[in-house]
Amino acid sequence: MPIDPAFDANREVVDEHDDHDVWGPVDEPETLGIHGTHVAVDFDVCLADGACLQDCPVDVFEWVETPDHPVSERKADPANESQCIDCMLCVDVCPVDAIDVDPTRSRE
Ligand code: F3S
Ligand code: F3S
Ligand code: ZN
Repeated sequence: MPIDPAFDANREVVDEHDDHDVWGPVDEPETLGIHGTHVAVDFDVCLADGACLQDCPVDVFEWVETPDHPVSERKADPANESQCIDCMLCVDVCPVDAIDVDPTRSRE
C-alpha cells in the first residue's frame, strides 16, 4: 500500500525525530509511522531500496536503522527535508511509493 497523500489530515503527530515530525500510529518495532512533513516517508512502506538516497540532488535522505521492522531493517529518513527543492525524483524512483512530497505542506 502506498503512502497516504492525505496523511496530514488522517494522522496525528505523535513524536519528533531529528527536527522533523513523526505521524502515528507508532508501535515499535513493528509500526513506525510517517517521518517528515514536506518530504514524508512512510517507514511502514519503505523497503530500503535506496534509490531516493542515490538520486536526491540535495541529499535530503539518510539511512536510519530499524531493527525488527517486518519490511526492512533500515529506512530512508528525510533528515534534511528543509533542503528539498521539489524536484520529485524521489517520488518517481521509489518502487513502492513510500514517499510523498508536497510543496504546500510546511517544511518543518
Ligand atoms: Fe530530493 Fe525528493 Fe526533494 S529527490 S529535492 S527530496 S523532491
Ligand atoms: Fe525506501 Fe523507497 Fe527510498 S523503498 S529507501 S523510500 S526509494
Ligand atoms: Zn525521521
